[in-house]
Amino acid sequence: MLIDGHGREVSYLRVSVTERCNFRCQYCMPEKPFSWVPKEKLLSFEELFLFIKVAIDEGIKKIRITGGEPLLRHGLDEFIGMINAYKSGLDIALTTNGFLLADVAQKLYDAGLKRVNISLDSLKPEVAKQVAQKEVLGRVLGGIEAARLAGIHVKINTVPMRGINDTELLDIMEYAKARNMPIRFIEYMENHHANPDLKGLKSEEIKAIIGTKYAFEEMGRQGASPAQLYRLEDGYVFGIIDPHKHDFCETCNRIRLTAEGMLIPCLYFDEAMSIKDAVRKGDVAGAAEVLRTVLANKPEKNRWSEDQENQSSDRAFYQTGG
Ligand code: GTP
Ligand code: 5AD
Ligand code: SF4
Repeated sequence: MLIDGHGREVSYLRVSVTERCNFRCQYCMPEKPFSWVPKEKLLSFEELFLFIKVAIDEGIKKIRITGGEPLLRHGLDEFIGMINAYKSGLDIALTTNGFLLADVAQKLYDAGLKRVNISLDSLKPEVAKQVAQKEVLGRVLGGIEAARLAGIHVKINTVPMRGINDTELLDIMEYAKARNMPIRFIEYMENHHANPDLKGLKSEEIKAIIGTKYAFEEMGRQGASPAQLYRLEDGYVFGIIDPHKHDFCETCNRIRLTAEGMLIPCLYFDEAMSIKDAVRKGDVAGAAEVLRTVLANKPEKNRWSEDQENQSSDRAFYQTGG
């Protein structure tokens, strides 16, 4: 079991396999970064797998593959298959924009992927295009359907933005509800990499919009999940991730690994350590040592702040894996 310096059990590892993305979402990466990390600096799947085995041996039970857009990396199904074969009963999940999902959904399921979280910010082609800066909606919806057909549990992530998709929140929720897919509305987290004009809706505003049509009761948070859950009268549950409240750190159970091999104890935290040297040498004990040190240094609270002057880290979502 992995216990951090504040007594929290850490059992969830988010692994980013690339910082690259085929979208340019306004809240994440409106411009292509000046330069990408060169491919040779990224860890290979074998190197990532060496660390993942160490992490599983030490007590990690849930692994989420993220990016950037993880499906840009070829052979992801085989990578998931390697992890799945290493230990039974792991919770293996993927966060994706869905654009490339339709063609690989069945292969991913067969490899052991049981859950996928997909971003869906609009059901209007023009608005989806405005957010992602690319014609995306048809393929994303196709990806969602293909994943469901393959038997993968799909969860929808929506970032509500003023003047962009704020009139559509009920429609997006009803799209998810009709398919029995959970949805989480994520408060926009202000960051230096996003479009500076963007304004997100806060949890209270999102609830007010849903409340114009549905009555719901508050269920609180489940386990270590950052989402606050709400149940409609017919039993359907939606969630809101409200980072502005800064109150989910107490039960935080996660650490993050970037595609370059930086192990990050907390979103928006500079004190990361590299596992690259250890995994490139095949040094299992060294990798375990880095893991333990990072855990011991996991901060009590995240240092993200909506006040950009106060931002303690400039790492982007597409680099940390969200
Ligand atoms: P589940 O396993 O389905 O609960 O997924 P998840 O919420 O862990 O993963 P997902 O990739 O869908 O993350 C959704 C978003 O929630 C992230 O991109 C962040 O915006 C937010 N989030 C997740 N974890 C944290 C966290 O530790 N701190 C903060 N501030 N936000 C987080
Ligand atoms: N604020 C809130 N959510 C964000 N995401 C990416 N960047 C931000 C941000 N700045 C969301 C994406 C994706 C999830 C992993 O994080 O929509 O669904
Ligand atoms: Fe790509 Fe996800 Fe960032 Fe959008 S939010 S640009 S899909 S990494």
